[in-house]
Amino acid sequence: MEVSDIKKVGVVGCGIMGGGIAEVAAAANYDVIIAEASQDLLDKGMRAIEASLALSVRRGKITDDVKTAALGRIRGTLDLKYFGDCELVIEAVTENLELKKKLFRELDGICRPDAILATNTSCLSIIDMAAQTSRTEQVLGLHFFNPVPAMKLLEIVKTIATGDETLRVARAFGESLGKAVVVAPDIPGFIVNRLLMPFFLEAIRLVESGQATREDIDRAVMLGLNHPMGPLKLADFVGLDTACFIAEAMYDEMKDDRFAPPVLLKKMVAAGRHGRKSKKGFYDYG
Ligand code: 3HC
Repeated sequence: MEVSDIKKVGVVGCGIMGGGIAEVAAAANYDVIIAEASQDLLDKGMRAIEASLALSVRRGKITDDVKTAALGRIRGTLDLKYFGDCELVIEAVTENLELKKKLFRELDGICRPDAILATNTSCLSIIDMAAQTSRTEQVLGLHFFNPVPAMKLLEIVKTIATGDETLRVARAFGESLGKAVVVAPDIPGFIVNRLLMPFFLEAIRLVESGQATREDIDRAVMLGLNHPMGPLKLADFVGLDTACFIAEAMYDEMKDDRFAPPVLLKKMVAAGRHGRKSKKGFYDYG
């Protein structure tokens, strides 16, 4: 398969990441079908895609015509049976390995034999998902970053079974979306989260130990390292529940203390302080 053969992209999950992936694919002229588990979630996700495209129009990034055309290329569904003619499917469902393995089994039965199946997982083992299919060489990770339309990077995650042709097509696909591509190994956290998680966790340990304030930590990183957000603001943005889940998954896999979530993070998650989405994390967003 060549990237020019990709006409229809399937996206499973219409949350922040799935919606963002659908949006950038449609804006790059692919036909997109996006699946959700319920009509409510699908409607909510489609409204978010429309709002994000409208923001891009307001920011002068795209014209109103491009927005209308992109929306016209995205079709929502509750049924994966419509994914049969997709050349590429990207799943972006909840970070649950058993759920993802089941989904890969299902997609393998539905999708055309030459279709590439990808996961947007941020930390889970991709070969475990690939092993559920009869096409392990056509399975890989396409790890996008939030907010998908604004972030330049796409991590392509190559498992020990991913074929060279799949990798080549995936790279060209990422570039066709305007992303810069890096190839990462199928190890816990790939490249970015492998570095980001110890950074988050060390910042949280500094707060936990009372040695520095959250404001000083974030200011230091923003002004001293030129990051757009400090680690605590960014952890709130990613979601403290998500960050905690990723760290725990990485710790479980590697038994390396650098990835063990600090007690403070676990307590904040237990208290429902999930960051920006719950309006409370290291900062208040009320
Ligand atoms: N959609 C499209 N474009 C957007 C956008 C959106 N939702 N939000 C911001 N942008 C664009 C703007 O148009 C602008 O582009 P320009 O510089 O070319 O004009 C640029 O992003 C910066 O926007 P602003 O100047 O308005 O500044 P903001 O403060 O609003 O920027 C931000 C928001 C882009 C989120 C910025 O703060 C940032 O880059 N933060 C860090 C985000 C990050 O690190 N994300 C990765 C998280 S880790 C992850 O996702 C992996 C997972 O596995 C955990």
